[in-house]
Amino acid sequence: MIPRPFAEMASVGVAVPPRVLTNHELTGMLDTSDEWIVERTGIRERRIAAPEQSVAMLSQEASELAMERAGVSPADLDAIVLATASPDRLLPSTACDLQALLGADNAAAFDVGAACPGFVYALTVAEGLIASGQSRTVLVVGAEKLSTITDFQDRSTAILFGDGAGASIVRRSSGNGRGILSTFIKSDGRLAPLLYRPGGGSSDPISERVVCERNHFMKMAGREVFKAAVRAMAEACDEALRRAGVSAEEIDLLVPHQANLHIIEATAKHAGMPMSKVMVNVDRYGNTSSASIPLALDQAVAEGRVKPGSLILLVAFGAGFTWGSAVVRW
Ligand code: UT7
Repeated sequence: MIPRPFAEMASVGVAVPPRVLTNHELTGMLDTSDEWIVERTGIRERRIAAPEQSVAMLSQEASELAMERAGVSPADLDAIVLATASPDRLLPSTACDLQALLGADNAAAFDVGAACPGFVYALTVAEGLIASGQSRTVLVVGAEKLSTITDFQDRSTAILFGDGAGASIVRRSSGNGRGILSTFIKSDGRLAPLLYRPGGGSSDPISERVVCERNHFMKMAGREVFKAAVRAMAEACDEALRRAGVSAEEIDLLVPHQANLHIIEATAKHAGMPMSKVMVNVDRYGNTSSASIPLALDQAVAEGRVKPGSLILLVAFGAGFTWGSAVVRW
């Protein structure tokens, strides 16, 4: 058995579509206002992928950047673990399409379905693959084209979501202090109907009726999800810190899932961390589900807020319900 930390995040890379959809544009489509959206969510704009731009293609761009930054070639990848709530097709996995695009011929590729904390779940799976000796180098991806499963006639959800992708090379720890110090994942499937896509799967296959009832789009009970998110993010922070044996004061940057500025603020308050130690970019991208943590982390690295040796806390919550966290020495 390899000693802990088993694995390290060697890099991060992202890709976002160029098309920006602002709150002002949404006010022309829905009964809403820029003031309402900013006040309730902190979101000002989000990115929307072009019809021909697939989740696999966004993932490819993010992955190639992450591989270049880690000095890794496609042939080095033993596994590709891709988290998404908006796969390109229901069969096969988007990870397999990504494998083909990358030419990662030596990898096993599969998707992880864990909604917004998908990146943290995929990171946990990657760590496990490395700890068991199954893999040395794993590509972890969180990628979404949520605009295709968002109902742009429903103002309570249409304002929230955006598209994007993030990737990280996770590899066997080089023993230089870097590494994943802890991970924590948990779910409560009883609460699934509070945030779900009712139709289009095998329980209610796609049909004219499903489409007429708009049941192929996401439905959300926002208030209930909000309250559960605040509770679960707090638990996830506590658990990752406890398992890593570090205190909140030792954390250099909290990198939370970017769903709503008020959930982020409540999470920081619970952890006793000032907002100056919290990464926020929900204003630029909205909620990109599994892509949100790598998108925030990449920006933090680019801005010099995460440097080699920085101790970071990742935390997320989403549909399922699912939640998770990790403490990482960058
Ligand atoms: O990624 C993890 C999963 N997602 C989340 O974490 C999201 C969690 N939930 C939220 O972020 C918030 O609940 C929302 C932003 C979705 C909604 O904010 P809220 O403060 O919880 O509003 P609400 O749902 O309680 O609705 C308050 C009012 C309602 O009107 P009435 O019934 O008071 O007359 C809504 O119809 O605001 C209305 N409303 C809107 N008004 C203007 C809902 N959406 C909009 C809108 N523009 N876009």
